[in-house]
Amino acid sequence: MERLDKRLAATGQWSRKEAKDLIRAGRVSVGGTVCRSPEEKVAPDTPVAVDGTTIGAGGPVYLMLHKPAGVVSATEDGRDRTVLDLLPPQYREMGLFPVGRLDKDTEGLLLITNDGPLAHRLLSPRHHVDKVYYVEVDGILDQGDVEAVSQGILLRDGYQCLPGKLELLSGNTAAYITIREGKYHQIKRMMAARGKPVTYLKRIKFGALTLDEQLDKGGWRALTDREIHSLFRQ
Ligand code: URA
Repeated sequence: MERLDKRLAATGQWSRKEAKDLIRAGRVSVGGTVCRSPEEKVAPDTPVAVDGTTIGAGGPVYLMLHKPAGVVSATEDGRDRTVLDLLPPQYREMGLFPVGRLDKDTEGLLLITNDGPLAHRLLSPRHHVDKVYYVEVDGILDQGDVEAVSQGILLRDGYQCLPGKLELLSGNTAAYITIREGKYHQIKRMMAARGKPVTYLKRIKFGALTLDEQLDKGGWRALTDREIHSLFRQ
């Protein structure tokens, strides 16, 4: 069971405050009956409508997930749990998918939506969406690595990466790294090319979105209106 205002806000179409206002204005029905109390508890399979239109029925949904290690960034997988398995049942039939992929052992920010055109735009190489990761390596990072990342690292398979940014953190075994591409295992391959294999990786930014540190691993929330708008301005 979930609060009615929370259920509306989870679609990403309204903030929690807007949802409360809609409910109090008598524009929201639960199982066909108008409900004016935002704190009403609603079962996941009970239909909720705003102005007569059932929510979640075709509208765009934008969620932020704190991906834990051990789940795959896919919509279906014969073997492993997927990021969609972490969401409650009412999200099952909405055509949601993760925007881009994080490796199974990578943690952090993942945008989940059913807005295909937006996802396509955010992933397009032409758009150069910056992604920032916290990375720990086996080895000591130094100015040579900072320089190499800023020039664009040449991977062992001959692929030339675009210039990125490496910001060393205390101890020099960890850093923030910003990249604009999203090639398979890109950061692991970049660090491997420097002889300093990745031991831990967590995405903390995706374009204008920053991982909400209030979210536990495996936790999720709807994007705020402001976050959704920032994605469209990307
Ligand atoms: N780079 C990687 O190597 N893995 C990820 O999951 C993301 C970026």
